[in-house]
Amino acid sequence: MNRRQLALLILLSTAIGFMMFSSLTSGLASVRPPVVIIGSGLAGLSAAMEALSAGQRVHMLERATKPGGNSIKASSGINGVPTPYQPPGDSIDLFKSDTIRSAGSRYTASRQALVDTLVEQSASAIEWLSSLGVDLSKVAQLGGHSAARTHRGSSGPPPGFAIVSTLLNKLKASEGFTLSTNADVTALSLSPLSVTYQTPDDGAVSLPAASVVFASGGFAGDGPGLLAHYRPDLAGMPSTNDARRDNAHSLLVGAGAELVDMDSVQVHPTGFVDPKEPTQPIKFLAAEALRGEGGILLHEGRRFVNELETREHVSAAIMRLPTKEGEGRQWDVTLLLDPGACSAAKTHVDFYVFKGLLRRTKVRDLDDKVRAAVDAYAAGVAGDQDAFGGKSFGHWTLQAGDADAEVCIGRVTPVTHFTMGGAVIDADARVLNANGGQIGGVFAAGEVTGGLHGDNRLGGSSLLECVVFGRIAGRNAAKAAGARQE
Ligand code: FAD
Ligand code: SIN
Repeated sequence: MNRRQLALLILLSTAIGFMMFSSLTSGLASVRPPVVIIGSGLAGLSAAMEALSAGQRVHMLERATKPGGNSIKASSGINGVPTPYQPPGDSIDLFKSDTIRSAGSRYTASRQALVDTLVEQSASAIEWLSSLGVDLSKVAQLGGHSAARTHRGSSGPPPGFAIVSTLLNKLKASEGFTLSTNADVTALSLSPLSVTYQTPDDGAVSLPAASVVFASGGFAGDGPGLLAHYRPDLAGMPSTNDARRDNAHSLLVGAGAELVDMDSVQVHPTGFVDPKEPTQPIKFLAAEALRGEGGILLHEGRRFVNELETREHVSAAIMRLPTKEGEGRQWDVTLLLDPGACSAAKTHVDFYVFKGLLRRTKVRDLDDKVRAAVDAYAAGVAGDQDAFGGKSFGHWTLQAGDADAEVCIGRVTPVTHFTMGGAVIDADARVLNANGGQIGGVFAAGEVTGGLHGDNRLGGSSLLECVVFGRIAGRNAAKAAGARQE
């Protein structure tokens, strides 16, 4: 071989070597572990959007066949302050003080950072969703709020469906996003970081993770498990949540996470009692927006509570009444909307009437006691007086004595709805252990977390926490993943 041939050979082998090296490294890049997100509700979807925009791949694991969790069922809306859709009069400070008042004795100064983050980022949460095409232009005042700040669409599907389907469609169209449904995460290993999930077809699958976001929801549907353990007194109550097992709380505990407020379980005052199946244990929720728009509650033809107090308060008032005989832990409460409230909540009302959960009837056809209570309330509204004080009357327009007016009426009972307890996180959505230390690479957001709401969550603040802390978790999980990959 002469010198020229030798030089050519060296050049060729260097080029081949370089090509092999680059294909090897780009191969490595494509198998870099993804950010793994457990749960496809609003917290998980919000986290995924942010992690993808930060340039990470995302693999979302969802136990159910259909994505969306409880988030897809949300019916009243999402809180935000200040937004262009609100009437004047609200402020960040007012929303913070309502949240703290509602959290009651469980609120401590150490939780202030979570409340601040939730409230201060609420306007940008609404703006973000609106910029993605979600209509949130209608606003109602829910229980425990001092102003109207719960946003939903002015028409079209309920807010949970509208938000979840918009985010899911965007994610499904994004490069770098993988969604595995029927994928039940059963184990988490911290070193190296990975999760194991069970699938009906492939059995146990191990998935290395650059970081992990728990967005696995609450346990209000876990009757025989966590609910029985932390709140045995709620046994036998119907629920708005589908029956499901421990949503990964045990995995968090296994990784050293601290749980807080696990006995703080929200009983929502108004699950519909379906006249066709009165003792069905899973109830359709009578959205709080129905009371927010002006609906009232009656027991044996008598009002007994300010319908716009916190859920904790309204549920307790109902549960002091006698239960309905022969129905276990169910009460007999009437929800009644006048024409003004019916029209303001038209999309909800039409759906519930279609489902047979509400019926329309003339005032003249109501039973005598109910008609008398309606007239007395209407007279109070006209004089801006209420027996329970300080109530917002929503869109109530019915005048006393108007027997021809058409009202909407249905039966409701309290239902387990939401769990305020869960994994302790900081305002960066990092999961913390009992000493306040971070568990490396592990983040959480949404109903699986605890501490923010204390004794009672305000209506509309769950979707809000999913978006605010979900986005933070996604950004920080992406950052942590980037640091590991350097
Ligand atoms: P979810 O949406 O529940 O999602 C968690 C997901 O994680 C689920 O899909 C679950 O299957 C999955 N998962 C759990 N464990 C595992 C595992 N081990 N492996 C894989 N996947 C797992 N809040 C409001 O703010 N406004 C409202 O109007 C409102 N209306 C509501 C109406 C109803 C009927 C209900 C039930 C709740 C409502 N809420 C509302 C509350 C709110 O919807 C939920 O608290 C919130 O959506 C929880 O979101 P998330 O993302 O934390 O969990
Ligand atoms: C409801 O529509 O009453 C539920 C709202 C919520 O849980 O925040």
